[in-house]
Amino acid sequence: MTATDDLRAEHEGILRMLGVMRALATRIEAGGTVPVAELTGILDFLKIFVDKCHHGKEEDILFPALEAAGMPREGGPIGIMLHEHVLGRGLIRDMDAALAGSADPRSFVAPALDYIELLTQHIAKENSVLLPIAERLLGTPALTAMRASPSLRIWRMSRDRAWMSPENGTARLYWSYLP
Ligand SMILES: [Fe+2]
Ligand SMILES: [Fe+2]
Repeated sequence: MTATDDLRAEHEGILRMLGVMRALATRIEAGGTVPVAELTGILDFLKIFVDKCHHGKEEDILFPALEAAGMPREGGPIGIMLHEHVLGRGLIRDMDAALAGSADPRSFVAPALDYIELLTQHIAKENSVLLPIAERLLGTPALTAMRASPSLRIWRMSRDRAWMSPENGTARLYWSYLP
């Protein structure tokens, strides 16, 4: 197992949660009700697991390693990925504001659908372009060592485990969606 194997596996999990979001957004659009606590739980998953943990690994560990191996930060895949992480944070803020400021749950739907579209495309680009480049540029031994690096282990212990554990409410929603 390498660091990029981990990131691909996390992408699968994130895509499943985006599927849950899409189902809930469709229900709200059709006039159905969704408990606010479920939407808040999904936002917590996006803020902590997707952004701080997953994007944190990419920004703090993988991208700097790619830069050190000669890939420029600006004007290429790294710059595009960083920009899309920023766009995602903006949409999370919009979803937060929709839940905090409006009695109408439909205000949540537009930023949620934009986020689903953004992250789906983002993950497709990472899986098909960025991660294969990383695998060619860094090689399996370095990526295996990266997965075992202390900083990545700390991330995994302090963040992923808690968020992916069966005791976590949002994770239960996530696991319940697994085939
Ligand atoms: Fe990313
Ligand atoms: Fe990613």
